Amino acid sequence: MARFSDAWLSELYAKNDIVDVVSGYTTLSERGGRYWGLCPFHNEKTPSFSVSKDKQLYYCFGCKQGGNVAHFIMKTENVLFGEAIEMLARRAHMEMPHAMEDKDYSEIKKKRQQIAEMNKMAARFYFDTLHTPKGAQALAYLKKRGIEENIIKRFGLGYAPDEWDNVLNRLRQKGFPQSLIKESGLVQVTNNNTYDAFRNRVMFPIINTFGDVIAFGGRVLDDTTPKYLNTKETMLFNKRRNLYGLDLVRKMRSIKSVVIVEGYMDVVSLQAHGVRAVVASLGTALTKEQAMLIKRYAHDVFLAYDGDEAGEIATMKAIDVLSAEGHSVKVIRFDDGMDPDDFIRKNGLGEFAKKVKNAVPAIGYKLDMKKRSFDLQTEDGREGYAIAATKIIAAIESPIIKERYMQRLAKETGYSQNSIQGQIQNKDAPKNTNDNYRYNSIKKSDKDNAEDAFLAYALANVHFVENVIDDISADDFSLKSHGNIFSVLYDGIKRGIQPTYAELLSELEYEEDRNEAARLSDMQVIADDPEAYLKDCISNMRKRKLEKKRQSLMEGLRDASSENKRKLLAEIGEIDKELNHIEGIG
Ligand code: GTP
Ligand code: MN
Repeated sequence: MARFSDAWLSELYAKNDIVDVVSGYTTLSERGGRYWGLCPFHNEKTPSFSVSKDKQLYYCFGCKQGGNVAHFIMKTENVLFGEAIEMLARRAHMEMPHAMEDKDYSEIKKKRQQIAEMNKMAARFYFDTLHTPKGAQALAYLKKRGIEENIIKRFGLGYAPDEWDNVLNRLRQKGFPQSLIKESGLVQVTNNNTYDAFRNRVMFPIINTFGDVIAFGGRVLDDTTPKYLNTKETMLFNKRRNLYGLDLVRKMRSIKSVVIVEGYMDVVSLQAHGVRAVVASLGTALTKEQAMLIKRYAHDVFLAYDGDEAGEIATMKAIDVLSAEGHSVKVIRFDDGMDPDDFIRKNGLGEFAKKVKNAVPAIGYKLDMKKRSFDLQTEDGREGYAIAATKIIAAIESPIIKERYMQRLAKETGYSQNSIQGQIQNKDAPKNTNDNYRYNSIKKSDKDNAEDAFLAYALANVHFVENVIDDISADDFSLKSHGNIFSVLYDGIKRGIQPTYAELLSELEYEEDRNEAARLSDMQVIADDPEAYLKDCISNMRKRKLEKKRQSLMEGLRDASSENKRKLLAEIGEIDKELNHIEGIG
């Protein structure tokens, strides 16, 4: 398990303060000696995600997940442990200790690098081909759509010629293994035939925020279908976790907001006309992961989806996904049949800027949409709309903004603001779950939480554990997780180091165990005499274990033969003796 030396890891953790790292993903504020924020791993409105600067751990009281800074990166970036460590090393400008790299990890990493290289080669080939006679038609197509050379360069647009094995042969010539070529998404395999996946298409490279080409979108030059082909999911490409255009947004300074559109062409065209930060989801509904990604660059977003019914539905969905991640969302709509590309080409940047300026806040947009399904000329229609609208308004957190929309609704329907407020309060108000987020505090170690108490205290006070650690073994814990956590603690102490909490967690192989260790880290254990406290926990654990065993033997007594009964009674007698003995030391 030890891929990295203790000393190297310890330096890495010291140089990547968890509060700094997490702050890049969610806004933290200090309260009661720890940092709180909205959990990046589940939707929530009240912060239940806590970060301890002392222990260098995070724990979410809502989704009950936790870990150290490396686990945080694993989860948010969807990478393996080794990759998370590498990202942190890069962040801290530390050299990776190559010799100790994990084998599985370095294999996957190598494959990913090779696929990225293949994609880069292909992107260069497509780009070059666009500027040869073979690509003349595609180049003319782009020019016809208002895309000039500078934009072609900025996005690395290209053309895949109408041939079956051009890319395939290039990849083979470069010596990439056949199996990996098949995994790259650049070729397609049908009935043992391997051939280029993209043919006679305008190519849009999809580039991640590290600058690697991870996939392509390819468009036909006419009206044939399918209009677009996208690279299938590969080791490198997960369409839920990337956005078209995000690589360019990342390089921009001082971005206030991001425009989200549906299509590749919308991104390219808006950029060509001078709109700066634009991204598109990759042919699917906007995902939570994408909403989180955007949050790293801006909190204000404008949804500019196509002016058709599909665009309307997608807008409603995207509003919920983005709002859940804490974005402030405004909506831009276009006339029927128009998309952002059509609009800006027809009307120019100035008119588009007006659209942005007059964009409707998400709540207003939702109310507009709701209103359409009612006839406000009728009493029933007004009532129906009022009731439906209060459900939307109830979700607003700010009392001021809430009042603004209650006023609006009162005007629209004729009901008093009083009744509207009453209707809102009628709703199942979201329960105040703050109680769950209080620290668990264990002042004395009773038998029921002796395991929790022992580990919570031991993990936080490793220097006191040495003298008692041989009195107990992993088997003494009733929970498997607790046994595993203890083993790691035991190994650390026996290696002669006093591992920090965060270092201990990096040794835990199973996520379940790490979550449990992180949960324990949030318990406040107070002990006047540390060693006596730990010993007390140990004897309570023993007691509990023996009592359990006694209980099951007693149950066995009922149906046992007389021969067995005697044996069982003898065993119970032994247990009683042991229990008395423990009471004696205790
Ligand atoms: P243009 O018609 O060239 O203006 O394309 P667009 O970029 O405006 O795309 P459109 O609004 O038609 O579609 C939005 C996005 O959905 C595209 O950018 C693609 O990512 C995806 N998409 C569209 N058509 C297809 C298709 O036929 N297959 C797949 N897999 N994805 C598609
Ligand atoms: Mn379009």
